[in-house]
Amino acid sequence: MSDAAQRISALRNELDAHNYRYYVLDEPSIPDAEYDRLFRELQALEAAHPELVTPESSTQRVGGEALSAFGEVRHEVPMLSLGNAFDDNDLLDFDRRVREGLNLPGGDLFGGGAEVAYSCEPKLDGLAVSLRYENGQLVRGATRGDGSTGEDISSNVRTIRNVPLRLQGEGWPQVLEVRGEVYMPKAGFEALNARQAEGGGKTFANPRNAAAGSLRQLDPKITASRPLEFCCYGVGQVSGELPATQVGMLEQLKVWGIPISRELKLAKGVEACLEYYRDIGQRRMELPYDIDGVVFKVNTIEDQQQLGFRARTPHWAIAHKFPAQEELTELLAVEFQVGRTGAVTPVARLKPVKVAGVMVANASLHNMDEVARLGVMIGDTVIIRRAGDVIPQVMAVVPERRPADARPVHIPEQCPVCGSAVERTQLVKRSKGKASVSEGSVYRCVGRLSCQAQLKQAIIHFVSRRAMDIEGLGDKTIEQLVDEQLIASPADLYRLTFEQIIGLEGFAEVSSNKLLAAIEDSKRPTLARFIYALGIPDVGEETAKVLARSLASLARVRQALPEVLTYLPDIGLEVAHEIHSFFGDAHNQRVIEALLGESGLQLQEEGELSAEFSAIATLGGMLDKLNIPSVGPGAAQKLAERFVSLQGVLGGDWLDMRQALPEKQAKAVREFFDNPDNAQRARAIEEQLRDFGMHWESEKKVAEGLPLAGQTWVLTGTLELMSRDQAKAKLESLGAKVAGSVSAKTHCVVAGPGAGSKLAKASELGVRVLDEQAFIACLADYGVSL
Ligand code: IVH
Repeated sequence: MSDAAQRISALRNELDAHNYRYYVLDEPSIPDAEYDRLFRELQALEAAHPELVTPESSTQRVGGEALSAFGEVRHEVPMLSLGNAFDDNDLLDFDRRVREGLNLPGGDLFGGGAEVAYSCEPKLDGLAVSLRYENGQLVRGATRGDGSTGEDISSNVRTIRNVPLRLQGEGWPQVLEVRGEVYMPKAGFEALNARQAEGGGKTFANPRNAAAGSLRQLDPKITASRPLEFCCYGVGQVSGELPATQVGMLEQLKVWGIPISRELKLAKGVEACLEYYRDIGQRRMELPYDIDGVVFKVNTIEDQQQLGFRARTPHWAIAHKFPAQEELTELLAVEFQVGRTGAVTPVARLKPVKVAGVMVANASLHNMDEVARLGVMIGDTVIIRRAGDVIPQVMAVVPERRPADARPVHIPEQCPVCGSAVERTQLVKRSKGKASVSEGSVYRCVGRLSCQAQLKQAIIHFVSRRAMDIEGLGDKTIEQLVDEQLIASPADLYRLTFEQIIGLEGFAEVSSNKLLAAIEDSKRPTLARFIYALGIPDVGEETAKVLARSLASLARVRQALPEVLTYLPDIGLEVAHEIHSFFGDAHNQRVIEALLGESGLQLQEEGELSAEFSAIATLGGMLDKLNIPSVGPGAAQKLAERFVSLQGVLGGDWLDMRQALPEKQAKAVREFFDNPDNAQRARAIEEQLRDFGMHWESEKKVAEGLPLAGQTWVLTGTLELMSRDQAKAKLESLGAKVAGSVSAKTHCVVAGPGAGSKLAKASELGVRVLDEQAFIACLADYGVSL
């Protein structure tokens, strides 16, 4: 064997062994970065020696072209279904039938019957598939279909990361079909739906549908980008001997590298099965995947054979289902609630129905876009889902059951509480230097604090524990204060007198004094708490902390232009506009003045602009944020280096410009700044950054102190746990530059699913590649969290 062939084989073995430890044993043995290094070495060697590429190499998961249709696969051993037990009695009956079938002595009132050993497994909610291994190599994957004939989804199952392309160890039968469930873990499902929604694509109602939709893609590249997993629960055709029990067999398969459930257990007798059922039922919400019950199987294979089948279900196994989390009911009406920020949101009033053990009469409809997406009308039969402690949701409409007199849902023109106008929010997007306005999904009552609903919610939020933390001021008291017109803004809280408080329901002398003291004690909030307490739409505790930490004074936060706010980690243009317009509102200004004036609030922890902010706010970054057509971050950086100041760019002559950039981009820059609005906006941003104490000249110095100073990083593919902007901001906060293309100077490439040419280029050049997990770990090493 040549050196290359030997190394390739060693790398494949090592990678497969790591995969096995990671996916099957759940005991990762090396850091992701190290794995990536080995993987890239293999990729590079295979690229240099294409004749040595084999289908079971872990570099070959995604290959082949999109199909026009799936082929058919006949299952030699049919793929069966399961009977169901819906309560304990059904299960006791099953156990009795099993014992009768095996001629075991029955118990009497005092127990004493023979106990059957059962294999206990969670019932994963996905799709059944059959994977065929011949001589240890994965040769085919098929869906269940009608049980006798399924579809050939070989290219798709190969993309599922925890499906081994070849078996580990030795001694496997020449033909081994393993059967199990392909499913999508909850976290992956949420991330996929978020990605789909962002890209305007189709979202999925639940992880099961998402798994089905992903597996039935004709293009395996799409399947590869979906976070699917496989869990084995049985076998089909097998050419040799396997262990004599269900649990023993699954553990043997695990040794060969086939993933099985971590929840697999052996139970002696039906009581132990019931205990397993209750235990998993309690932990159901914490499991990383959806299950709809558990499956009990007679453990001894010989007993299974003796018990046999009836039509399509075995006598030796049963699914013990959990109470359904989804039910059908009728939508009686849609009412509108007004929240703290004035958002007018639709709430479904339902014909009461029991879902997972609890009566449900109301469900969330989120917003009018959701109403439109569902296509729901009053009178419709709808699917309601209640999972754990989550507020019940309307998942879908059953169109066949729509009555003739169904009525559409309309947003009211006037606020149902105060009668002010209800307006649709606008989203301002800037792209290629132009601002475009589109409709937001939220409708708002414009009454602000003159609307009692908003006022009450605003004050409840203002006094809450994580905001101003005024103890002893419950929701009911606040409602009373507002209803009796004792307060009309948060500032009025600080004017309340002992006489006014003692006059409220539930207050006596001691409690009134206590409340007055609590109000007094709240007068020295930190800047972050105060910003959070203001209740700016879309500004939660984290964003408030970012604003306080980076800008370090209320004055700066109040003045900050939207573009300047977008320099801060995790603040996008939309939120930036919310913040800017909140502080621009005259009523809000009056309340803030009153709080800082008459009410006597004194903010703590104000100070200098943070170094982190100064490091991010570079001239190159600012030019990039202007969104000049065809000018990306790289070109913006070149401009900044060439001209050093904005004035330089604005006054830059053509020759200079041409030296910094290719003609097309140089022209785009010139045209952009020829528009006086653009030039003025750029000047305003620069001026503000300078006001805040930023100096372009100092940018280098500050950046040099940061851990990734001088490094260039590239982001490619889809990131699932954060947006690209977030990833970029985090890298920049550590001093790295983020570039759009890979070169020999690139320090590191972060590649998500779907990465293409940039990833290939990186491996070609031997540039370090991190997947998202490794990237997050790397950020964590520098103390930057998600
Ligand atoms: S055994 C002969 N075990 O449930 C037994 N099925 O309702 C055949 N399922 O089609 C299935 N988890 O898709 C079995 N641990 C488990 C399972 C399981 C999920 C699914 C499978 C099957 C369906 C039957």
